[in-house]
Amino acid sequence: MRLLILGTGGMANAHADNFSKIDGVSLVGGVDVDPARLAEFCATHGIERQFASLEDALAWGEFDAVANVTPDRIHHPTTMQAIAAGKHVFCEKPLATNAIKAMEMTEAIEASGKVGMVNLTYRNSPAVQKGRELVLSGAIGKVRHVEASHLQSWLVGNHWGDWHTETKFLWRLSTGHGSNGALGDIGIHIVDFASYGSGLDVAKVFGRLRTFDKAPDNRIGEYTLDANDSFTMNVDFTSGAIGTIQATRTAAGQMDQLRLRVYGETGSVEMIYDTGTSTLRACTGEDVHAAKWHDVPFDPVETNYQRFVAAVRAGKTQEPSFRRAAQIQKVLDAAMASNASGRDALV
Ligand SMILES: NC(=O)c1ccc[n+]([C@@H]2O[C@H](COP(=O)([O-])OP(=O)(O)OC[C@H]3O[C@@H](n4cnc5c(N)ncnc54)[C@H](O)[C@@H]3O)[C@@H](O)[C@H]2O)c1
Repeated sequence: MRLLILGTGGMANAHADNFSKIDGVSLVGGVDVDPARLAEFCATHGIERQFASLEDALAWGEFDAVANVTPDRIHHPTTMQAIAAGKHVFCEKPLATNAIKAMEMTEAIEASGKVGMVNLTYRNSPAVQKGRELVLSGAIGKVRHVEASHLQSWLVGNHWGDWHTETKFLWRLSTGHGSNGALGDIGIHIVDFASYGSGLDVAKVFGRLRTFDKAPDNRIGEYTLDANDSFTMNVDFTSGAIGTIQATRTAAGQMDQLRLRVYGETGSVEMIYDTGTSTLRACTGEDVHAAKWHDVPFDPVETNYQRFVAAVRAGKTQEPSFRRAAQIQKVLDAAMASNASGRDALV
């Protein structure tokens, strides 16, 4: 499979590292509007062809699939162009900046017959895959209550770099640069994690978004820092279960932690991904009466990168698909509508 990497910033390195490890996959071209970044990326990953735009790359055309690793607001126009040119697309999350655009992309890829998948990275955690299996097997009975959080701290700690000076952080803080803040950036991950891990779909949301003061006039250069930094959601699931889903970039002490607890009629399951380490625990059977948890073993799982390559080879989309990401985007849109109106919003 011949792959083009579109957008050669921070996350593109993870794409190049992961795809290049898969037998039979060649990274044949890179595209970026920043020539210096593009040149350095292509040198690092041994990529021969460099393009200043997707149009130029499509005019050449000698690739099967595009890994779209551009900033959020660029996903929609570029993915639509790649689909029109008959390419498979592995798109970064969020698929688009709203559900209408995400659904347009979904319909276009499905109509084209090509593979369209979205990099909901935390599906790569064996804890959520095995945890979901447990829940669906009935190990905790009917699910009643869900608690989910995604905690990062790059606004207070500089372990990933200095947000005041690096563009990869600044565009994430600015709605004018197409970001929906913590909700758009990591809300997509934790809503997917909560819904996938619990086997439930969100029906209704009460959402609260908060943007904190972070700089004089909340501006740094061309960036107005108006995107939300934290959110909370009370959710009703279609099954009648309820839950809370929250995320923040300001949780000192947590680099990148997703925690999901699913409470059922006869037991509970806890799935954690914490900065590269997965853990899975359950409280079931007689342990329920002693409120005791036990670790649950799990096997490694395929990554989204591996699943995408397998899907292209088989000619059949796997999860997480564009359709799934568009459905999760509807939950995020509902949280924004709810925050604006002060009322519940239906998904
Ligand atoms: N799945 C995950 O866990 C995960 C983690 C990090 C980032 N991401 C996603 O990956 C995407 C990129 O994030 P990042 O941190 O690498 O950002 P980044 O700012 O480091 O990189 C984006 C790159 O895209 C380039 N670009 C902008 N417009 C372009 C265009 N029209 N054509 C080609 N290139 C263009 C920029 O010059 C930049 O080099 C975002 O959508 C982000 O949400 C996902």
